[in-house]
Amino acid sequence: MAFETKALDPKGSSQKISDKDFEQLRDYIYNVCGIYFHSSKKYFLESRLARRMESTGSKSHADYFQQVRAGATGSAELKKLLDEITTNETCFFRNLPQLNALETKLLPEIIAHKGKIGFKKLRIWSAGSSSGEEAYTMAMLLLEKRATLLKDWIIEIVGTDINETVIGQAKEGIYNSYSVRNTPDFYLKKYFKEESAGRFVLSPEVKKLASFSQLNLYDDNKMLFMKSFDFIFCANVLIYFDTASKSKVVQHFYNNLQPYGYFFLGQSESLHGVNDKFRTVHFPGGFTYNK
Ligand SMILES: C[S@@+](CC[C@H](N)C(=O)[O-])C[C@H]1O[C@@H](n2cnc3c(N)ncnc32)[C@H](O)[C@@H]1O
Repeated sequence: MAFETKALDPKGSSQKISDKDFEQLRDYIYNVCGIYFHSSKKYFLESRLARRMESTGSKSHADYFQQVRAGATGSAELKKLLDEITTNETCFFRNLPQLNALETKLLPEIIAHKGKIGFKKLRIWSAGSSSGEEAYTMAMLLLEKRATLLKDWIIEIVGTDINETVIGQAKEGIYNSYSVRNTPDFYLKKYFKEESAGRFVLSPEVKKLASFSQLNLYDDNKMLFMKSFDFIFCANVLIYFDTASKSKVVQHFYNNLQPYGYFFLGQSESLHGVNDKFRTVHFPGGFTYNK
């Protein structure tokens, strides 16, 4: 792939990316992870690239691109590039109507179903988990049912994200005031310790319920192993994908969801034009999908 070469200016500020270089890099990123940068996002990509180019001492976009594609070193740099270009905004208790429906209707329904066949194991996947707030929100809700609905049940909550930095933060389980801004007082008091002003440490019993690992949702081979989930959350992730990459990823979610399980997107998202196999299930303030 031929990149146009322009030197970094001497002060190290970002150089303008040419249309041709932008398109090549955009297509490369798209093929790796499904995230599609529309041309209106050219300046966003340019500024994120500038940081990586400075760290790696690259003289031009061509030079940087060559490094990203260079074997083992390149794959380490690719991870850093992906860490730089992904948007990781999240918080605890982000989608209350969804959580209410889950707690009052969808969870009891699944428990009744699985209980009948004697399979007392619940598997939940937060796909595109960012720093873990979504997965840990579920962990806290389920801990509240431990003595009743979920007595003697095995609970597995899995959080995955392409961004290694946020996966590290999820494993650590330490949050700031911004992350807990929507957390009801009851949960904040019970499951967090405010160690110092604005530093909230999650309790070990919550952390124990969830595990986190790096996973690219666009990697078909890895997606095949994500089996048998009762609830899959993929909220505010596919908004960065185009229709074709959304369809590919959603088909995996469809295959990996239990027949009676539920698939959740973010509040402003839908599968319209993406997948017509899922059935829409409405609840007050939103909707979810099942098979
Ligand atoms: C805006 S956050 C959403 C976090 C959380 N699901 C929520 O709704 O609060 C989007 C996350 O999706 C991740 N992501 C983007 N593309 C991905 C991919 N191809 N595979 C896995 N994760 C991806 C990003 O790294 C980011 O952490």
